[in-house]
Amino acid sequence: MRVYRATDYSDMSRKAANMISAQVILQPDCVLGLATGSSPLGIYRQLVEWYKKGDLDFSEVTTINLDEYAGLSGDDANSYRHFMKTNFWAYINIKPENTHIPDGPAHDPESECIRYDSIISARGGIDMQLLGLGHNGHIGFNEPGTAFDKDTHLVALTESTIEANRRFFEGRDVPGHAYTMGIRSIMQSKKILVIASGAHKAKIVKAAFFGPVTPMVPASVLQLHNNVTLVGDEGAMALI
Ligand code: F6R
Repeated sequence: MRVYRATDYSDMSRKAANMISAQVILQPDCVLGLATGSSPLGIYRQLVEWYKKGDLDFSEVTTINLDEYAGLSGDDANSYRHFMKTNFWAYINIKPENTHIPDGPAHDPESECIRYDSIISARGGIDMQLLGLGHNGHIGFNEPGTAFDKDTHLVALTESTIEANRRFFEGRDVPGHAYTMGIRSIMQSKKILVIASGAHKAKIVKAAFFGPVTPMVPASVLQLHNNVTLVGDEGAMALI
């Protein structure tokens, strides 16, 4: 595992955006695995800025997102598809048909999971997967206790995740279920880029990357991957 210490959120975002840029420049038709949440927002802003300067071309890039709330359509302001459109895709030249995210309102969850896994395998797997880190060590929506050998599946969210996400819902009910790539799907990515910012992530960064590998801390499985880069700012790296 490579570890990069950044001074603050914007330094973390710039360093991680540089790594994603290198991936896109060296392999213009790469498959990027993307995440939502607060952690990657600065990366998306930085990539958009470089795209606008003419330094990046996303016309051949495919993106495959980690997760989506069950029941929310892509037009819903709280859906992850909407998040990706409004924070990233709308500002770059990615082809809409090359952006993938689970279909929240899918009628048959089992077929939806199979469809999603087949998108990943048809594209030859994910070249670089970007991951944020949940307070409880979740990656995607793989909550503590999830078996390491799962592909895309439907999960019931834990109370702590529902609470952590409530800030985005402004009084609406937070959905109780979500589709997520499984730990196995994530582990099959060729490269994994983990970002963490803020002192509130310090304990989980230490547990995930320097503690025992256990399903109770899903991100700890990343210690077993052979190409993981962690970029954390001072707060998140305070206990390392
Ligand atoms: C988002 C996702 C989640 C987040 C995690 C951290 O697509 O899969 O696992 O990466 O909850 O969220 P933030 O970045 O908001 O702290």
